[in-house]
Amino acid sequence: MPKWLEDAVFYEVYPQSFNDTNGDGIGDIDGITEKLDYIKDLGCNAIWINPCYDSPFKDGGYDVRDYKKVAPRYGTNSDLYRLFGEAHKRDMHILLDLVPGHTSEEHKWFRESQKQERNEYSDRYVWADHCFRIEKYPYVAGESQRDGIYMLNFYKCQPALNYGFFNPTEPWQMSYKDPECQKTKEAMKDVMRFWLDRGCDGFRVDMANYLVKGEDENRTGTCAIWKDVRKMLDKDYPEAALVSEWANPKQSLSAGFHMDFLLNNPGTGYSTLMRDYSNSKDNANTSGINQKKVDVTVDRSFFKRDGNGDIMRFLDDYLPMYESAKENHGYVSIITCNHDTPRPRRTLSYSELKLAYAFIFTMPGVPFLYYGDEIGMRYLDIPTKEGGYGRTGSRTPMQWSNKKNLGFSEAFPEDIYLPVDSSSDAPTVEAQQQDPDSLLNTVKEILALRHKYSDLNSQNNLEIVYAKKDTLPFIYKRGDLFIAINPSTLKQKAGVPTGSSIIYSICRSNSCDVATITDTSITLAPESFVIIK
Ligand code: NOJ
Repeated sequence: MPKWLEDAVFYEVYPQSFNDTNGDGIGDIDGITEKLDYIKDLGCNAIWINPCYDSPFKDGGYDVRDYKKVAPRYGTNSDLYRLFGEAHKRDMHILLDLVPGHTSEEHKWFRESQKQERNEYSDRYVWADHCFRIEKYPYVAGESQRDGIYMLNFYKCQPALNYGFFNPTEPWQMSYKDPECQKTKEAMKDVMRFWLDRGCDGFRVDMANYLVKGEDENRTGTCAIWKDVRKMLDKDYPEAALVSEWANPKQSLSAGFHMDFLLNNPGTGYSTLMRDYSNSKDNANTSGINQKKVDVTVDRSFFKRDGNGDIMRFLDDYLPMYESAKENHGYVSIITCNHDTPRPRRTLSYSELKLAYAFIFTMPGVPFLYYGDEIGMRYLDIPTKEGGYGRTGSRTPMQWSNKKNLGFSEAFPEDIYLPVDSSSDAPTVEAQQQDPDSLLNTVKEILALRHKYSDLNSQNNLEIVYAKKDTLPFIYKRGDLFIAINPSTLKQKAGVPTGSSIIYSICRSNSCDVATITDTSITLAPESFVIIK
């Protein structure tokens, strides 16, 4: 386990929308390098960059055409090596995004695999040997010279790499133990080595749970792959970190990942914190590409001031994951948002966001902040771009200042990658830096505390002190620190002893008396957060 994860706080950068340094309207690698000091000063000492490789960009770059080449629109490989170096000078770490489950249909492996004559790549993808539709899995026919159909992993442009089937049921399905499937794994390890050898500090792994296909409830086949990858890391790159898009820490962390994300999947405890729009019958799927259609008029989120205040919906789901993370010496990563998820500002106000982030950044595990969430960037209702669909509204350019294109780019506004927030009160970094009470400055304060008190680090214990169904406040303990939260508009009292000295507080009304503490109880002001020693 890399030691640096104990004090790590990640910042997710969607490279096309972060900072354009050459005026072509799209973000670039040099733009990230230029903002390293900003990110570090915010309190984030690690970065995850979404795929920045050569790609036809039919799924925002998750359709990789060349795993070893930076997309020309972002710069060159040398720019990325320079970013690694500059990050390390600042004691920061950079994770790239590994997309092991599929490539672009334009990848050279796939081009070869599509040929009828057998070659080195014939078995690199999942091919069925006939041309009729197979129930359950999406397959594509009629696109290749080859006498067969290929399996998709996500969009039509993303053929599934072949890691085999757990229990093959058809003659054309290969066992995951087949040497050809092992070659796919070795090819992915080679990609990892390529970047690790050049200064990359690890990977966020896309759809990490879904490599070996077929019925495999425990993901035994897929886990075997990651165990082997972890062996390679432990031996040759012990400081490299892996975080999975899996949302099942019991499986992912025992398979060798260091961290696993909580995701905004429907029905999860995580989704009740900041995005519980469960009023609407259309909200069965609040994640993914349908988000735009979701009715958000009633929001029952825990952090909504008039939500329903039931933290148990989160804890019942989270605590077993937290326990298994501890057993497996790994971390659960709580995110503010990501490039697939509606920004929390969609329904939460700045004051509600302050409490939500204060919670996320004082929990165990390694937290992730999505670029722009620190200033409360909005989820915009805009047309799809590069396969984003309903996710596009969370991928708009970073809002730095009130200059042209909100400081993102010098290009003509009609030429920038996506439109910037055109509202007159669009939040910007520059404005919030000047306001001591801004969301940005609150994030900075909390992250500074996280780094200052080892009680708050990734690894230190979590103890639930006061958490009851439909009842507030919510109180937990990290090391010697008590943390109490009241997102509601009423005062809330808990009959439990806490410490006596308040070391940090957030209160909606600045003049409020945030907490009244006695030997046996604590009463919290409306919409407040306190850390007590
Ligand atoms: C999950 C990624 O986060 C998402 O953006 C992408 O579209 C799919 N995986 C497919 O790679």
